[in-house]
Amino acid sequence: METKLIQTNDPADPRLQEVGRILRRGGLAAIPTETVYGLAANAFDEEAVRGIFAAKGRPADNPLIVHISAFSQWAPLVQAIPDRAKLLAERFWPGPLTVILPKSDRIGPVVSGGLHTVAVRFPSHPIARAVIDAAGVPLAAPSANTSGRPSPTNAQDVLEDLGGKIDAVVDAGPCSVGVESTVVSLCGDVPRLLRPGGVTPEMLQEVLGELEIDPAVYDKLQDGATAASPGMKYKHYAPAAQVVLLKGSFAQFCAYVAEHADADTFALCFAEEAGQLPVQTVTYGSANDSVSQAQRIFDALREVDRRGARRVFARLPAQDGLGLAVFNRLVRAAAFQIIEL
Ligand code: TXA
Ligand code: MG
Repeated sequence: METKLIQTNDPADPRLQEVGRILRRGGLAAIPTETVYGLAANAFDEEAVRGIFAAKGRPADNPLIVHISAFSQWAPLVQAIPDRAKLLAERFWPGPLTVILPKSDRIGPVVSGGLHTVAVRFPSHPIARAVIDAAGVPLAAPSANTSGRPSPTNAQDVLEDLGGKIDAVVDAGPCSVGVESTVVSLCGDVPRLLRPGGVTPEMLQEVLGELEIDPAVYDKLQDGATAASPGMKYKHYAPAAQVVLLKGSFAQFCAYVAEHADADTFALCFAEEAGQLPVQTVTYGSANDSVSQAQRIFDALREVDRRGARRVFARLPAQDGLGLAVFNRLVRAAAFQIIEL
């Protein structure tokens, strides 16, 4: 299949109507969002949604997020919208927040991965919203990467993984947040953070008052445990190179790298540190700026492979605010290998 590439930053671009038609008829299109690029299909067309799982090589029990472009599109997808869900939507939508609630019959078992719940998100990206409008239906969309690889934050990354497997890619340049949306479940008594992202735990707590952080945000799921979010049990975001996180000061990091590096070892460090290391470096943002770290992290994880790294020693990011989302992705990319210096 030839994948059509449409480059635009204009929500009124008539070619987006064509993308809408492709989606309504059961096709697959990758679209930009403020977080990462998503691989979209008509959420009401289970056959089309199966195509997403096939193109990505995604396990069937890992449910998809349904994307809407107006508040009114939410109610038909869920059993009810409780007050605390409304509060979150008023404060953070459109934006990088996904809310999980018990699903309605409109959501089939393929989208929901067999669960009784559905994850919904109202993205802020003008092109994402224009494509959902053009399709005229909510769009199921996971990140537009091959399952297990780092998420794509630009159209080239999408084409690298999915070129030839999907109908179209809409290219609107790099994503502004750089990590996927925050996922919150409102299905239990206490709201539960399942995945950290652009909306931080502090911001959620301010609106909700109470918030539990799922242990899988920080740690590897214990063998045999059931994942609250099925996506968290799979190997994730990983480059082909082996990634090891080093916990300690920059001086300790330099000393460790100098002692243990061989010819194929890279350092994944902060921009201001790059010149001070005895090996090749890839950088992910600035040391005290988690916004820039989030924007760079997935691209950096792809870059280590492009440059032929076999092993990567990575600096540990701070874990507050947006830093928690960066840490969450990096620790998965490292298969939870952290060395304390
Ligand atoms: O920012 C984002 O959320 C991006 C863009 C494209 O919108 N999408 C995205 O989708 O990251 P995906 O499929 O790569 O990640 C969705 C995560 C997975 O970990 C999945 O297991 C979880 O959300 N999830 C989806 N529906 C769920 C549900 N009903 N219950 C629990 N977890 C759910
Ligand atoms: Mg993903």
